[in-house]
Amino acid sequence: MTEENNNRLHAADLTIEEKARLLSGMGSWHTWDAGGRLPTVSMSDGPHGLRVQAEGSGLANHNSRQATCFPTAAALACSWDPSAAERMAAALSEEAAEQGVNILLGCGVNIKRSPLCGRNFEYFSEDPLLAGRLAAAYLRALEESGTGTSLKHYACNSRETRRMTTNSVVDERALREIYLAAFETAVKEGRPATVMAAYNLVNGQHACANRRLLTEILRQEWGYEGLILSDWGAAVEPVRCLRAGLDLAMPDSCGVHTAAIRKGLESGRVTREELDKAAERVLNFIYTHSEKRAKPRFNPADHSRLARALAAESAVLLKHGEVLPLRTGERILAVGELAVNTRFQGSGSSHICTGPVRSPFNALGGAGCRVDYLTGYRCADPKPDPLLEQEVLAAAPLYDKILVFLGLTDMDETEGADRPHLRLAENQLSLLRQLKPFGSKIAVICFGGAPVELPFAEDVSDILQMYLGGEAVGEACADLLTGAANPCGKLAETWPLRWEDVPCRGFSDAEGETDLFAESVFVGYRYYETFGVPVRYPFGHGLSYTSFAYGNLSAERTGLHSARVRFTVKNTGDRAGAEIAQLYVAPPKGAIPRPALELRGFEKVWLAPGEEKEITLPLEERSFSLWDAERGRFVVTPGEYTVYAAASAEDLRLRVSLTLEGEEVSGPAWFEEPAQPGQAPVFSRQGLAKLFPYQLPVLNRAGEGRSYTAADSFESVCAASAPGRLLQKGLTGVLPLFVKGGRKSTEYAMLRSGLNETPLESLAGLSGGLLKPQWLEGLLKLANRRNKE
Ligand code: BGC
Repeated sequence: MTEENNNRLHAADLTIEEKARLLSGMGSWHTWDAGGRLPTVSMSDGPHGLRVQAEGSGLANHNSRQATCFPTAAALACSWDPSAAERMAAALSEEAAEQGVNILLGCGVNIKRSPLCGRNFEYFSEDPLLAGRLAAAYLRALEESGTGTSLKHYACNSRETRRMTTNSVVDERALREIYLAAFETAVKEGRPATVMAAYNLVNGQHACANRRLLTEILRQEWGYEGLILSDWGAAVEPVRCLRAGLDLAMPDSCGVHTAAIRKGLESGRVTREELDKAAERVLNFIYTHSEKRAKPRFNPADHSRLARALAAESAVLLKHGEVLPLRTGERILAVGELAVNTRFQGSGSSHICTGPVRSPFNALGGAGCRVDYLTGYRCADPKPDPLLEQEVLAAAPLYDKILVFLGLTDMDETEGADRPHLRLAENQLSLLRQLKPFGSKIAVICFGGAPVELPFAEDVSDILQMYLGGEAVGEACADLLTGAANPCGKLAETWPLRWEDVPCRGFSDAEGETDLFAESVFVGYRYYETFGVPVRYPFGHGLSYTSFAYGNLSAERTGLHSARVRFTVKNTGDRAGAEIAQLYVAPPKGAIPRPALELRGFEKVWLAPGEEKEITLPLEERSFSLWDAERGRFVVTPGEYTVYAAASAEDLRLRVSLTLEGEEVSGPAWFEEPAQPGQAPVFSRQGLAKLFPYQLPVLNRAGEGRSYTAADSFESVCAASAPGRLLQKGLTGVLPLFVKGGRKSTEYAMLRSGLNETPLESLAGLSGGLLKPQWLEGLLKLANRRNKE
């Protein structure tokens, strides 16, 4: 035993009060130091850069030390390359060590259920296999290089608006096959030091107080031995959280959490054993992760170069015509403010303060292109500007090629709020409409962390989607446009034609209190491909400046429910490039509705012109199984499975079949089949109810006469009394003073929704003690007194 181990404190060395105190953070980013007797663990946000914010530096997220901003998860996912995630994670670990950070709060592995979720840019995919594999690679690389991680946001946090109070109502099969599956892979293969429990409720219970999720599934089924911490301010009802298996509530709760645990002990709702167990776990965590980190030597320029390479590897060529790649000597017109005002990250807790960022326009000039720029539209005002448009129209005939830079603007994508629609700004669409006659010489370059409707797709020659590619996205963009790099990303999510086609539309009540996952397992391509709903670009789609041919598919059984699949991919063009080959499995027809096909493997191969490689991919029991709610486990059903080697979920190149033995599974048909082929099925609340062994929650908890608790949002409690309404108005009025950009900034939008939507109980802590616990208690009393009157 080392001297340090000899001196270490155990739960038995602490008083009850100290143990209770240990279960919540100190300040915003640290574990409690027991008055100097304990070392502390320092945590900082990720996932695509390090947001190190000094303690006490304020409420604003955009106020952190300079760091490299790597491509966001939405971009990186399109690389379909776990080694890309590893390279990025290794660089992040060097930056974490340099900044003395022990735990990097990332990555997020929530499933992209809706393309409107404001935080999709921080998540990987609509598919759990892809998301889980990328997350596992990322986590493992950080953990192995000495930086602890936090896998978040566990679970079913697939929306941002009212994320702190919304109840995600999900049937067990969708949970297991879709929403938990990515976490499962990431936990088992990535072994994160911590798992962060989400804000929302899952089937009526806060994720942080959800024993089924935290203890029964995460710890007992998956064997997770690390620490479970809360998202910041998510540990409402501390006693329930502790009993459910939550170890650490973050951040500092200004005494609220400790007092609640103390009361719980006094009333017998918490036992000493439960407290000791959680305290011991936090102590273990502190002693394992608090070491002072040796400063590594790294060159920030290397990290920027890596960011550039990763951004290039992650971009997706959605449409390929005659415009790209550009040729030497061509006269190019770059149009749109996003050509000079680079969009490279989203807003919120993952926001990175970088050094100077080079715009695509500037980078194109640097690459030797003869390129001019016209504004065309402005990001700050979505209204079309006829003067700016006229200028572009007058210039258009003078150029060989026109690059139109479009996308979501800063205000569109932020943590804490979902987008209201799937459209681009009206001024961008208007510009494209006007430019239609020049379509054959137009390439659109699109930025943003999530899909948008592309009504002009047929009218332009090429479309390159850059996502939010990090600080070097401008240079990466120039590399791709000029052909110095060959596009090789593929979509990690479906791009629907329009919002009306998205399976989860319409399942939230107006107040956002309940989110019914009525489509169950039919998420993303599992829906579109099963029901034949046409999409703009399918899952897994992405083109290249070269072409690939697939051949020689075979599948050989390696066990009762496993197989080895082989096929070849050949570069049939004249440029080096990479192809992401995908393996889908289609199930036999059975008694229970299943997706038409599901991704069960993939590999990215780099090929010189003319080169061919063989790919070997394993299929395992899970590749064929579905969750049987009755048996409470995954089950393989018997029959003939079809295995596809594919270039996307719609570009199925080769097929082979496998006949497997198995067990029959039945279950209710919970949706109405479409009246005619080609029409979408009808998912409904009544349908979802068939998948639940208990009553679905009542929509809309607001209303006259109900009593409020500290788990209710600040906004709803305020609305119930005149002094509350006054307080809310006053506080909302002063919030702009806390952020640099004032009322127009995304930071303000996030702070405002943060204030209004946060449960009362968490506000003291989240406001860093600015709002006193006793004021908030008073507010609650007022709301309930009025109710009684
Ligand atoms: C976010 C987390 C983040 C935490 C700390 C929360 O609001 O949901 O992802 O790690 O804040 O900044």
